[in-house]
Amino acid sequence: MTNSKMVVVFLLLVGSLAFVNSLHIPGFVKGKPLRHHLDKIRLPGNAALDSCAIEFYFTQIVDHFDSTNKDTWQQRVQLNSKFFNSAVTDQPIIFLMIGGEGSAEQKWVCREDYTYMKLAKKYNALVIQVEHRFFGKSYPYKNGTMGDMSTSTLRLLTSQQALEDLANFVQNYKYNNITWTNPKWVVFGGSYPGSLCAWFRGDSKYANLTVGGICSSAPLLPKLDFYEYAEVMEYAFKNWSAIQNTNCDQLITDGFYQLRQNTYADSGRAKLNAVFNITPPLDPTMKNFDFFVTNFLANIFSVFQGIDQYTFDGRDNITIGGYNIDNLCKKMIAAPDPVTGIANVVFWDPTNPNPMAQYLDNDYYDDIALFNKSYYDYTNNNQQDIAASRGWMWLCCGMALGWLQTTENNGMFNHAVPLRHAFLFLYMLRPDLITDVHIL
Ligand SMILES: *[C@@H]1O[C@H](CO)[C@@H](O)[C@H](O)[C@H]1NC(C)=O
Ligand SMILES: *[C@@H]1O[C@H](CO)[C@@H](O)[C@H](O)[C@H]1NC(C)=O
Ligand SMILES: *[C@@H]1O[C@H](CO)[C@@H](O)[C@H](O)[C@H]1NC(C)=O
Ligand SMILES: *[C@@H]1O[C@H](CO)[C@@H](O)[C@H](O)[C@H]1NC(C)=O
Ligand SMILES: *[C@@H]1O[C@H](CO)[C@@H](O)[C@H](O)[C@H]1NC(C)=O
Ligand SMILES: *[C@@H]1O[C@H](CO)[C@@H](O)[C@H](O)[C@H]1NC(C)=O
Repeated sequence: MTNSKMVVVFLLLVGSLAFVNSLHIPGFVKGKPLRHHLDKIRLPGNAALDSCAIEFYFTQIVDHFDSTNKDTWQQRVQLNSKFFNSAVTDQPIIFLMIGGEGSAEQKWVCREDYTYMKLAKKYNALVIQVEHRFFGKSYPYKNGTMGDMSTSTLRLLTSQQALEDLANFVQNYKYNNITWTNPKWVVFGGSYPGSLCAWFRGDSKYANLTVGGICSSAPLLPKLDFYEYAEVMEYAFKNWSAIQNTNCDQLITDGFYQLRQNTYADSGRAKLNAVFNITPPLDPTMKNFDFFVTNFLANIFSVFQGIDQYTFDGRDNITIGGYNIDNLCKKMIAAPDPVTGIANVVFWDPTNPNPMAQYLDNDYYDDIALFNKSYYDYTNNNQQDIAASRGWMWLCCGMALGWLQTTENNGMFNHAVPLRHAFLFLYMLRPDLITDVHIL
């Protein structure tokens, strides 16, 4: 495998989806489109609005729970003071966007069409985003430009440490060296950062640091088999189908069923290999064939996840421009059969109606090898995204948030993502912990 592809966003499984002449990097990881994958398909006109902030680094404490460790690190911060009146030092309003499991993107403090930015304008708030430790450029330990993600260092990647980072920031950050009296901090976050936001508000240890929070899409409890996520996805497809009075939901159900059935027989596999140009082709004689089958189904699920999850969110011109459930359903309905419909969705590039040769990059071992490194160069965008995926896997498996987005509800997506597939990432992070792996 020689080729590449990228991802960013919120809740995430490894999916590798390659279009043309790309390096071997997945386009979606657990439904998160890697940032640079989206950059590629971003429609014109966004770039200028995606950056506006001043960026700086705040000196943070490496280990908030070990007072003998005096090490510090540099946490990336992005700030937009456009709406803020710095003469107000009594009860100034500060909106704090909490960074999550990806590189902090300036658009979150720059895009004035976002609802919370409209609120910032209305309330003359200072808008700040802080990057989560171990993501983007915010590494507790690094060697030159290489962020340290070795398992011994990843022990410092926990939500508890991240909450302490937030508390330390709120208590010690000085804007222009001004001392504020009774500043009114309001926290924001969506998805995993939504959980951080809610924990930050809800834990009495931190609650008095802020006056409020808008914490969206925030699971509050760890849960290993998080099939409820797939249930919400299904609800969205079913709801849309009911509103539109179409059978799109049934076509998706049939399609995922047929995909799986096709993996069981030579004739079915030949069809899948042809329709998806699966690379390498599914072949039962290959080593650990079962891994490749599950990886294939998970890759397909990941694309549906990515589209479903961001439908109508208005985050950028991709979703505004129609990369959503509505057009996904139109593709399913227009196709001669559900499997072809799924392929048309998988190869859908919103900026290019006639993409060149298409193939589905499904090399399981090449996929996981990307994440099996101790150091990543955070100045390299691809490396940054891969590191973020490793970090998210750590938060899910190593730190035990769980939140493995399986399809164990066995509904619309059939058995595309069994829990045991999701568990493979634990194997990858800590092969020493698992001596015997039985898949399928
Ligand atoms: C989105 O695309 C439209 C049309 O292509 C363009 O006019 C608009 O400026 C874009 N929006 C943003 C926020 O870039
Ligand atoms: C840092 O990286 C350099 C270059 O790869 C390597 O020679 C050195 O051993 C590394 N230092 C540490 C402390 O790991
Ligand atoms: C804040 O104070 C420090 C130390 O006194 C100084 O170096 C820095 O330039 C000041 N920053 C601003 C924005 O005034
Ligand atoms: C919040 O409470 C903690 C301890 O409960 C205290 O140390 C801190 O000073 C308080 N912060 C504010 C802003 O009142
Ligand atoms: C779609 O979902 C909304 C929100 O849950 C609900 O109010 C509405 O009744 C649903 N519509 C249909 C047709 O299922
Ligand atoms: C990850 O790398 C280690 C050491 O480089 C190797 O022993 C192990 O087999 C790799 N694991 C996977 C799943 O590729």
